[in-house]
Amino acid sequence: MNGGGGIEQARQQHGEFQDYLTLLQSVPKLVTDPRSLSRELPRARGFLGRVLPRHFRQEEDIVFPAVLEQAPPELRPRLEAAVAQLRREHDLLLDQALALLDGLARLSQYASLSDLLKLNARVQAFGDALRRNSQREDEEIFPHLLQFS
Ligand SMILES: [Fe+2]
Repeated sequence: MNGGGGIEQARQQHGEFQDYLTLLQSVPKLVTDPRSLSRELPRARGFLGRVLPRHFRQEEDIVFPAVLEQAPPELRPRLEAAVAQLRREHDLLLDQALALLDGLARLSQYASLSDLLKLNARVQAFGDALRRNSQREDEEIFPHLLQFS
C-alpha cells in the first residue's frame, strides 16, 4: 500500500464510523432478541477488535508521519502537539474498545437492567470520544496533507 492510498483510505473511513456506532448503540437493545443479536454481534465485534485498531495503526504509521514530514517548519510544533494528543486519544479509545468487547462477550438475555444501562453508557461515551477524535483529525491533520501533497 502506498502512502497516498493509505491516507485517503483512513480519511474515508471516518465516514463509515457513524454506521458502526449506530450498530453498536443498537446492540444492548437487542438483548431480548437473540436472533438479531447473534446476527449483529459479529460486525460490532469486528469493528472494535479489527477495523478500529487497523484504522489507528494506518494513521499512526502513515498519516501522522506524512503530515509531520510535509508540514512547513512554522507549522510543525503545532502539528507535533496535535499528533501526540491524537495518539493518546487512540490509546484511550482502544482501552475503551477492549472494555466494550468484554461487555459484549458477557451480554446475554439474562443480563440485568443495570448491566445493560452500564453497557449503554459505555457505548455512548466511546461513540462521543471516537467522533471527537475523528473530527479533530479531519480538521487539524487531513487538510494539511491535501494541501501539501
Ligand atoms: Fe481516525
